[in-house]
Amino acid sequence: MKWTTEINQLLGIAYPLIQAPMFGVSTPEMAAAAAQAGALGSLALGDLPAAQCRELIRKTRALSDQAFSVNIFVHHIPECTDELKARYTQTKIFIEELARQHKLELDLPPVDTLVVTGYREQVDLLLEEQCKIVSFTFGNLDAASILKFKEQGTLLIGTCTSVAEALILEASGIDLICVQGWEAGGHRGSFEADNIPEIGGLSLLAQVYDQVKVPLIYAGGIYDAKTACAASSLGAQALQVGSLLLGAQESNLQAFEKAHLSKAREADIILTKSFSGRYARGLRNLFTEALAQSGLTLPYPYQNKLTAALRQAAKENEQTDFVSIWAGQSLAAYREGTTTAILNALINDIENYSWNP
Ligand SMILES: Cc1cc2nc3c(=O)[nH]c(=O)nc-3n(C[C@H](O)[C@H](O)[C@H](O)COP(=O)(O)O)c2cc1C
Repeated sequence: MKWTTEINQLLGIAYPLIQAPMFGVSTPEMAAAAAQAGALGSLALGDLPAAQCRELIRKTRALSDQAFSVNIFVHHIPECTDELKARYTQTKIFIEELARQHKLELDLPPVDTLVVTGYREQVDLLLEEQCKIVSFTFGNLDAASILKFKEQGTLLIGTCTSVAEALILEASGIDLICVQGWEAGGHRGSFEADNIPEIGGLSLLAQVYDQVKVPLIYAGGIYDAKTACAASSLGAQALQVGSLLLGAQESNLQAFEKAHLSKAREADIILTKSFSGRYARGLRNLFTEALAQSGLTLPYPYQNKLTAALRQAAKENEQTDFVSIWAGQSLAAYREGTTTAILNALINDIENYSWNP
């Protein structure tokens, strides 16, 4: 049976399947390969400066003439108070010392040298580049940006991790909502409450479906026909897969990171604020443990900026103790091969699946 929903036409894709935006891991090549499988590719732009965003958008367009979505971080930037500055310096000293003890010599940036930017410049660039599908996480776009995108006919996809967030996105005119289950790898997209909602993916999706009218995408723990069938039964019109593609040929993870990930066990997958200051799901390591014990974590994006050089040095030295490897709870999702082949296999599995409890 051909797997289709109303979303196929809306997004211009053959199958209601989306390659998750994964900042630092997904690539223009991955987005193009996803399109080859008939899915929607996503280009993760995170909080990159506009010039780099333009380059990546143009590179993706050069690789594929199919539609793809661009994804940005719509985050609130906390004021850099004297208290925050003092805490930053304390955390910097702690991390530098910890790294030194494990043979990583590095000087992290002093707080006054940080360049912390919002997403407005990215919005202008996406408008200028006439991006057709824009998705975002960590918050909601401001009303003026939403209006500008609407005037240009851009399709907007917001991310929610609670019913309350879904209602906010719907009320502000967002076209589609990506319901991010608790299982999902990477950062939680939460933005509404100080403490992140801990509701499980099944409960969340079913309740969001009951309360909003816009079409829903579900992300979190999808890796085969039975997980896809469960999310579709609960109201998802499209499915977004991230962790399933971490080991793909087009993934930006290095060979040592893929090898480490392929050996991970259930207990290794945790939720941690240690690398970025926002909760993210990924592999436990020496750094996540040490930071949790120290209690030293700054709000996003300060912690993220502080640890950037550490993460980079750890990658160069193939030091799994200090790299951030984001991954979801469905460990069975780890696959190798091309993105196209992995997605083709999933589509084939879904189309040939018959639910027979
Ligand atoms: C390595 C990694 C990076 C991610 N980066 C982003 C991102 O830049 N933007 C975003 O909206 N979601 C991001 N996510 C979340 C995914 O879009 C998606 O919600 C998640 O991967 C789905 O769950 P799964 O990993 O179980 O498939 C990331 C996930 C991973 C694993």
